[in-house]
Amino acid sequence: MKINRVCILGGSGFVGHHLASRLAARGVACLILTRNPERHKELRVLPGVQLLSANIFDTEAMQPHLAGCSAFINLVGILNEGGNKQGFKRAHVDLVDAAVQACRAAGIPRLLQMSALNASQDQGPSRYLFTKGEGENHAHKLSQPDIQVTSFRPSVIFGPGDSFFNRFGDLLSLSPAPFPLACPDARFAPVHVGDVAEAFIRTLTDSGTVDQRYELCGPRIFTLEELVRYTARQLGLKRRIIRLSDSASRLQAHILGRMPGQPFSIDNYLSLQVDSVCQRNGLLDLGIQPTDIDEIVPLYLGATQRQQRLSRWRRAG
Ligand SMILES: NC(=O)c1ccc[n+]([C@@H]2O[C@H](COP(=O)([O-])OP(=O)(O)OC[C@H]3O[C@@H](n4cnc5c(N)ncnc54)[C@H](OP(=O)(O)O)[C@@H]3O)[C@@H](O)[C@H]2O)c1
Repeated sequence: MKINRVCILGGSGFVGHHLASRLAARGVACLILTRNPERHKELRVLPGVQLLSANIFDTEAMQPHLAGCSAFINLVGILNEGGNKQGFKRAHVDLVDAAVQACRAAGIPRLLQMSALNASQDQGPSRYLFTKGEGENHAHKLSQPDIQVTSFRPSVIFGPGDSFFNRFGDLLSLSPAPFPLACPDARFAPVHVGDVAEAFIRTLTDSGTVDQRYELCGPRIFTLEELVRYTARQLGLKRRIIRLSDSASRLQAHILGRMPGQPFSIDNYLSLQVDSVCQRNGLLDLGIQPTDIDEIVPLYLGATQRQQRLSRWRRAG
């Protein structure tokens, strides 16, 4: 089936930016429904990208915008609930129900659902992973029999604008003191955002991918400590990293979880108790050769930190 126009929820985020620009480059028009179009104006420069304000939980409100869309992509996800106790359920489960209803009402036959590695309605160790698993199951079950669904379960995703390497880069740059690291032995297989976007795009037109749930991983497995040391090396920073014990990691999560913006929470700590590595890498099934961090991270990591150093130097001058 030829895809001319897709609707993306969460298209204003990190993955959404990369996916929309790749779709635009291939001549696919993207409708991005967002809570705040003004904040993401830069997306409008991409050919064929339309940015609209909409309450994405309200199926009826979405309807008038969906004409001509032949696929629906749901990228919405949150890592913390903030003060809202129903936040995970609303963003990861209720929204999927609304997306399925919207597809059905608008006659959209294809839905791609972003989940996460280890998401599980049976064994999800954290509320993030539990609700992500519930949302993934809803997408596959509620869509029967008229909507074709594929879901994606990535490990941590890296690339320009990511919130993993960039975040640790900022933290390492800002704290000259020894760096206390929670859950240092948690394992990841970082996957490139370009490969994730490519997986979505290939899936859009391949009927063999319907009903599949693809785990997405990079080519190598690292511990969190190795990734933080790698980040420091890329930035030319000499930082002593202090490995926190399990109880100290939990305590750090308790303390930081009460701070504004919840930089690290108990739910994040619980998510890190299971290794984020693939049993079977769906990228290979989709014919995509996974990209290594060495090919990409050195190209962008440090740019933000260099800018910060420069503006500090200018202010001091
Ligand atoms: N990044 C990773 O390492 C990673 C790893 C595994 C899985 N994932 C999954 O991949 C997806 C995309 O991740 P990302 O890194 O691109 O996330 P992101 O940058 O935080 O973007 C998510 C987007 O979702 C929308 N959103 C957030 N909270 C919302 C809410 N409460 N109600 C409605 N919309 C909301 C926002 O759009 P507006 O503000 O424009 O409305 C936001 O731009 C998520 O589902 C995430 O769970 C990411």
